[in-house]
Amino acid sequence: MRIGLSFDLKDALTHATGEPEDALEEYDSAETVQIIEDAISAERHNAIRLGGGREFLHNILGKKVDFVFNIAEGRGSYRSREAQVPAVLEMLDIPYSGSDPQCLSLCLDKPLTKQIVAAAGINVPRSNTIAGVDELAAFNWQDFPFPAIIKPAFEGSSKGIRLTSLVESARQMTESVSGLLNAYHQPVMVEEFIDGDEVTVGMIGNSPPQAMGMMRIIPKTENKHFVYSLEVKRDYKRLVEYECPIKLPDQTIKAISDASRKSFEILGCRDFARIDFRINSNGVPYFLEINPLPGLGTYSDLIIMALKMGWTHRGLISAVLNAALKRYPQWARA
Ligand SMILES: Nc1ncnc2c1ncn2[C@@H]1O[C@H](COP(=O)(O)OP(=O)(O)O)[C@@H](O)[C@H]1O
Ligand SMILES: [Mg+2]
Repeated sequence: MRIGLSFDLKDALTHATGEPEDALEEYDSAETVQIIEDAISAERHNAIRLGGGREFLHNILGKKVDFVFNIAEGRGSYRSREAQVPAVLEMLDIPYSGSDPQCLSLCLDKPLTKQIVAAAGINVPRSNTIAGVDELAAFNWQDFPFPAIIKPAFEGSSKGIRLTSLVESARQMTESVSGLLNAYHQPVMVEEFIDGDEVTVGMIGNSPPQAMGMMRIIPKTENKHFVYSLEVKRDYKRLVEYECPIKLPDQTIKAISDASRKSFEILGCRDFARIDFRINSNGVPYFLEINPLPGLGTYSDLIIMALKMGWTHRGLISAVLNAALKRYPQWARA
């Protein structure tokens, strides 16, 4: 098969003046694209690089491909940016890996995702979404539980989540929220901080999806309120340890596994995803967010987890590809 590869390279994009320092954080490296290309070739397919943005549009119209392996994050800061490439592929009726435009748009909108997940009976932290400075000034914070965490509503890769995102009072919160509103030009969430273990879950396959692994993120130094912030993710080797498989009570593992599968299915995810939870002191998992297009690079949580579970990097990519191909009977291998 001729398999196109859509991606947005960090090095191909320029950092516009006035943009936050982490504006390009979610984009991919040349190494990641090479590994995916190798995995596709190892499955005896022809890999054809399509790139992202205008280059992708040009290539998808000009080069004949049977299927697209998509890791393009999309352009701009729109909450539907991850849907851009899949929407074009649907318009052209070209099959592709991963979730569809509706799922990708929904899941990048953290407040909306939480509402849907909560309606399905999954625990989510209490939160308020602040659309602008007027709303911030008008809100009555008297009953809001502090500490709280402040984050942009439509971001990933810990963009906008810094060591300063944890706030202890309404005053600190107001300063932090105004800063983020200014910098990221999108609503900001003020969320109850769930103190306790952080666990991320890798999901793979469809009907039913399987929890490929669960990984606990443990700070290396004593930390009053641990946040897996941008600073920590960039310096993870020094600052955190990864425990996988996780050593938590069976009952907690079962609760995480049930919540993972339920959220994957209810949000309409396909082929793979990564879901973040915090577990409170009673062993109750709280859903933080889901990534239907999680990073597939060497230093991404999903790949670190896969290696700890005995997969190879290429093997995991092949599994995503084959889960996607299975959805299209004409391409499925036995
Ligand atoms: N409500 C919360 N309680 C505790 N920690 C949180 C909460 N929300 C976010 N965090 C911390 O911030 C990190 C990043 O938040 P997350 O919502 O997963 O954003 P991103 O999409 O950038 O990964 C989490 O991995 C966790 O450490
Ligand atoms: Mg996360």
